[in-house]
Amino acid sequence: MKFYITTPIYYVNDIPHIGHSYTTIAADIVARWKRLNNFDVFFLTGTDEHGAKIAEAAKAKGKEPQDLCDEMSAKFKGAWELLNISNDDFIRTTQQRHFVAVENIVQILFDKDLILKKKYEGMYCVGCEKFYAKKDLDENDCCPFHKTKPVLQSEENYFFKLSSFQGALLERITDVNHKEHINIQPEERRNEIIGKLKLGLEDVSFSRSAIEWGIPLPFDKSQTVYVWVDALINYVTAIGYPNDETKFKKYWPADVHLMAKDILWFHSVIWPAILMGMDIPLPKTVYSHGFFTLNGDKMSKSLGNVISPEELVDKYGVDAARYLAVTLIPFGPDGDISWEGLTLKYNTDLANNLGNLISRTLKMAEKNFDLKILQVTPDLELAKNVAKILKEEFTPSINGLQLHKAAEVLQNAITLVNRQIEADVPWKLAKTDLDKLATCIYSYLQATDIIVMYLLPFMPTIGEKIWHITGATGNINEVAKKYFADGIIPEEGFSVPGADLQVPVILFPRMS
Ligand code: MSP
Repeated sequence: MKFYITTPIYYVNDIPHIGHSYTTIAADIVARWKRLNNFDVFFLTGTDEHGAKIAEAAKAKGKEPQDLCDEMSAKFKGAWELLNISNDDFIRTTQQRHFVAVENIVQILFDKDLILKKKYEGMYCVGCEKFYAKKDLDENDCCPFHKTKPVLQSEENYFFKLSSFQGALLERITDVNHKEHINIQPEERRNEIIGKLKLGLEDVSFSRSAIEWGIPLPFDKSQTVYVWVDALINYVTAIGYPNDETKFKKYWPADVHLMAKDILWFHSVIWPAILMGMDIPLPKTVYSHGFFTLNGDKMSKSLGNVISPEELVDKYGVDAARYLAVTLIPFGPDGDISWEGLTLKYNTDLANNLGNLISRTLKMAEKNFDLKILQVTPDLELAKNVAKILKEEFTPSINGLQLHKAAEVLQNAITLVNRQIEADVPWKLAKTDLDKLATCIYSYLQATDIIVMYLLPFMPTIGEKIWHITGATGNINEVAKKYFADGIIPEEGFSVPGADLQVPVILFPRMS
């Protein structure tokens, strides 16, 4: 089975911050989870490099647009490497392969009479790269996202007949049994899209005459393709459209387009209409998560309050940064974050709960058994309880992109083992019954191994490290793939009697 997941391609006028990281880490966690579940995954991210916004940013810096794009695109790539993002490709809209795809699609739509020339006058927000109707502006006639006044623009452009897709889109969004059903999530935002669609659709401008920094229309080189059309097409370019049919057929349609709510309309209405115009199947799920603010303020470069991926990694380390970024607020609604909140969650979930489980188990094994797993009769009861909880609760949560819930289930499983340790009072057993103590430690290790396989998509490096610390056998990725396929815990467990454990180290030092 294949699984194709995408993030938005990010504008290169801004540096990567925790907002972009949020979406990318979330997509990475899902991609890693699917790989562990034996899917043939294609995970795409990249940068959106054309349009007025980029041209203006380059001009302000006294740079050629392409130079700015190269520089900034490399920053996004670097940030994703730092965060251990496992994307299979990184698309840039200034790449030749993308020009080919955009020209092909725009020409086909034109040949099908779905693109027509019209005069248009409207209020344009460069920040959003879109025209606004007066009713969609705020009380000061400003863009609701950028709080700036859109500029009146009058041009003769090519328009896409979006209005003719209203009925077909509504059917595909509302009818879950439709063979081309698009599942828009979460529910409230799906309802907003349906409400807006019902009010009717206007044709949308697909080209710009005054913006040079873009892909020229193949049938009228005096105009460039509207940056949003250019950008959306990246999702098919990267998997080989139009020249590599085998690859394209293998991965399309996308299983999940992931993004925040700000760009849901483009992904759930305009993109599907383009695809319908091309007779290309529609994406299966379009999932929009919330926006987060920092200490109650919108994060922005001008306010100087952005958190960068580097800062997060410097403070917490890569794996903890990944975990914290996606679990601090529920995945879906808006939420507020702060350094205090991040540190509190780090201490609670990682230093106190997970870190404590590993360190006290290992310390007991070091003190009493010289870091060896003794030849005890395997006791897998605790591991089986943990396995049951994770299978029943973690799996549906992560498959439904409820990442904060999946993490909560993991924490509950860790707490269960920590409680068992307290109930067993092993420090007393050390004085009275060493055989029982050895069996207890063995059972904590087995439960930990199961937890770690589920933790792996969130924390790929630390997960592997813990796997070695607990003396578990084999490559964790391979073992987890097998375990997720057959659900079988080996008779002797994963950390087998006789195996060596590693000297306890503090994985998550407490922070203030
Ligand atoms: N270039 C377009 C997307 C084209 S996709 C075909 C664009 N780029 S963007 O750089 O502005 O990125 C927007 C996306 O970044 C959001 O949809 C979201 O995924 C992520 N986020 C940016 N800031 C964010 C927050 N403060 N909170 C959550 N997500 C944020 O739009």
